[in-house]
Amino acid sequence: KKRIVSGVQPTGSIHLGNYLGAIKNWISLQNSYEALFFIVDLHAGDENVGVALLTYPVLMASDILLYQSDFVPVGEDQKQHMELTRELAERINNLYGGRKWKKMGGFDCLCYSGDRRGGAIFKVPEPLIPQAGARVMSLTDGLSKMSKSAPSDQSRINLLDPKDVIANKIKRCKTDSFSGLEFDNPDRPECNNLLSIFQLITGRTKEEVARECQDMNWGTFKTLLADALIDHLHPIQVRYEEIISDPAYLDGVLLEGATKATCIADATLNSVYQAMGFVQR
Ligand code: TYM
Repeated sequence: KKRIVSGVQPTGSIHLGNYLGAIKNWISLQNSYEALFFIVDLHAGDENVGVALLTYPVLMASDILLYQSDFVPVGEDQKQHMELTRELAERINNLYGGRKWKKMGGFDCLCYSGDRRGGAIFKVPEPLIPQAGARVMSLTDGLSKMSKSAPSDQSRINLLDPKDVIANKIKRCKTDSFSGLEFDNPDRPECNNLLSIFQLITGRTKEEVARECQDMNWGTFKTLLADALIDHLHPIQVRYEEIISDPAYLDGVLLEGATKATCIADATLNSVYQAMGFVQR
């Protein structure tokens, strides 16, 4: 099986962008791939923020390369980080791949033996960015992405928002004064975003939603959207409450996962040490 690797930062609460851009896809992908999903606690750098911003992409590349992933399911905002990750992998493979230990003059030496590419150290991973949902936009500004760090909580739907909060956020979210509703009109970014969210949450096709909503007014659509969100998030919220009240279970899952992941990480680290000429640990 091919392997997928992805993570979410632990700070703030998970929102609809994290869910539709990444987490929802992990659920369907985990059956066809060997999957490693993690909470990226080292990334949530409270101290040394200045340095953390500089080192962040490298740390992310390490997460991915350490586990020899084939694919990385993420939202569009991670595309640049994925490009750097691929570049680093290719560079290390070119510099150090294909080296073997050999006896030279009685000493063990690292020498190039044949094709460097044949001795790749890291898999060069590819991002898996969904066609729809890759960039969920803010509820208060259709031109900026929904994010944990935006100061206004009105700009996002958190997965754990209670019903009345969801209804209220949708009621107050930004719209426009065009008549009817449509996808892909550059003058109507909010409209496109809200229809896309509705499409993903209800599991309908874009064409179905476009047809159903073309003559709708905002009031009618907002009620439909709020109800769909509340219905979709309800089972997730129920399950969250069950799991969060069982810390022993959660610790067990983390420990089991960490143990499996460490085996893969150790193998990669050893081959890196060997290829670069460091003493093996
Ligand atoms: P983070 O925690 O910011 O976001 C987690 C995932 O959610 C996606 N996402 C979005 N997708 C669509 N629309 C949005 N508005 C939106 N906001 C966030 C992100 O693309 C991401 O997939 N650097 C990563 C965490 C990370 C990681 C890794 C991911 C660290 N190491 C290794 C993959 C592999 C981040 O900050 O995600």
